[in-house]
Amino acid sequence: MRFDVFTIFPGIFAGPLNESILKRAQEQGLVSIHLHNIRDWATDRHRSVDDEPYGGGPGMVMMAPPIVHAVEAILGPELEQTPVILLTPSGEVFNQDIARELAQYPRLALICGRYEGIDDRVRVILRARELSIGDYVLTGGELAAAVIIDVVSRLVPGVIDPESLAEESHTSGLLEYPQYTRPPVFRGLGVPDILLSGNHARIAEWRRQQALCRTRARRPDLLARAQLTEKDRRLLEG
Ligand code: ADE
Repeated sequence: MRFDVFTIFPGIFAGPLNESILKRAQEQGLVSIHLHNIRDWATDRHRSVDDEPYGGGPGMVMMAPPIVHAVEAILGPELEQTPVILLTPSGEVFNQDIARELAQYPRLALICGRYEGIDDRVRVILRARELSIGDYVLTGGELAAAVIIDVVSRLVPGVIDPESLAEESHTSGLLEYPQYTRPPVFRGLGVPDILLSGNHARIAEWRRQQALCRTRARRPDLLARAQLTEKDRRLLEG
């Protein structure tokens, strides 16, 4: 999977994507991340990438030409088949379903907005999909793009163990059950006896119950959409 990131602050990506699992995925050639500085496509002598909004108002707007020229130059004819994502707090909210959809493509282009936004003609010309990573405002789209790269890369075959993928939150539609490891007692707090029992069927049942109760308490919206068995419903009632 190849990610092409368009930004005026490529330095932001230096840290988070070059450690641990994503570092290994890049070394193994499963994922590649290419950073492109939009300023390289500015045409005036100040290398401007933003200007005042038509109609007035506060702040500056990112200009369309440098971004469109950058994406067209880097993607070339592949632009036709490549999803172009524009990171903005006014986008559709990113989630695991969208991540699974994006992970089907061999290449993604991500455009990071800054200032008060991006000239809307960029979205129209590049047929970009606007995504937000949540209902809060970042100083720019770079961290949002890094989040999307992280989430989508995990789904690329070979990047992580398929068993971990199947077990985790949001794959099943439920939040994860609580986990414990050594020591067996810490600051007077023990580990639930069931986990030390060696009874795998009862452990699985306990974990399911924990996942259901946690989801009900923290994210009832997820529970309403989850696929529940009759046994799940009994566990929730019990
Ligand atoms: N840019 C600023 N805030 C953002 C958000 N929440 N998601 C995506 N891009 C953003």
